[in-house]
Amino acid sequence: MTEPTRTPAYDLVGEGPTVLFLHSFPLDRAMWSGQLDALSRAGFRAIALDFPGFGETPLAHCSPPDLDAYVSSVLALLDTLHVERPLIVGLSLGGYVALRLVAQHPDRVGALVLADTHAGADSPTARASRVVNLSLVRSKGPGALIRKMLPLVLSPTASENTVSNVISMAERQSPEGVAFALLAMRDRHDHTVVLPAISTPTLCLAGELDTITTPTTLESLSQDLQHSRFVGIPSAGHLSNLDAPERFGQEIVRFANEYRTELT
Ligand code: MLT
Repeated sequence: MTEPTRTPAYDLVGEGPTVLFLHSFPLDRAMWSGQLDALSRAGFRAIALDFPGFGETPLAHCSPPDLDAYVSSVLALLDTLHVERPLIVGLSLGGYVALRLVAQHPDRVGALVLADTHAGADSPTARASRVVNLSLVRSKGPGALIRKMLPLVLSPTASENTVSNVISMAERQSPEGVAFALLAMRDRHDHTVVLPAISTPTLCLAGELDTITTPTTLESLSQDLQHSRFVGIPSAGHLSNLDAPERFGQEIVRFANEYRTELT
């Protein structure tokens, strides 16, 4: 059963063509604060939202859990703000949602950044690990899950400040919202077959130290798209925008400027 989609909670700074940021798992829109500043200083309207069940957005009543609930919340926000074709930046989970959005509604995406993500469905091993993580979240909460994930998502040289920021962001998420995301990601569709049909200009980014979605994965994703290039972010892991906020922001600003006149 699915109820009408509500406009999600969001932050908005600056004026100009719109750049919309989609967060990773199990975090929220606060992970983009550095990039919102960079984009607004470069003359863009920068927005970050919370997917349903994360941050300040209530969980969607969508059964079974499906990433389409997140896609609908993105579209609801674009409609509320009268944004037609923004640049959409999605990292990992955010990238899954961005890819699904562009595959279903290519007319609503002016340009795309896919960071530290991939187009495939979960492998059998990944699906089994979702079930283990689900039980961890239900018994011990999202804080226990992020502590397990930390060595995989941040670079070994991440600052104490970055580590504690990621832990506290995950700890404030509701177990229900995180559980919904785990199931929705476990059962998500494989988008590899639709990649050659996507003509939206795309920048594929990967932290050069990302071991979950490696630079090779993002390079290959970029090659499968019609108009795409790949850029590696030095010294960054999976959460590349948190490991290397300035460099990540510079790459987005450069790309957004290339397509400035096409973003509405
Ligand atoms: C993320 O960073 O959003 C996660 O790695 C996505 C996932 O668990 O597949």
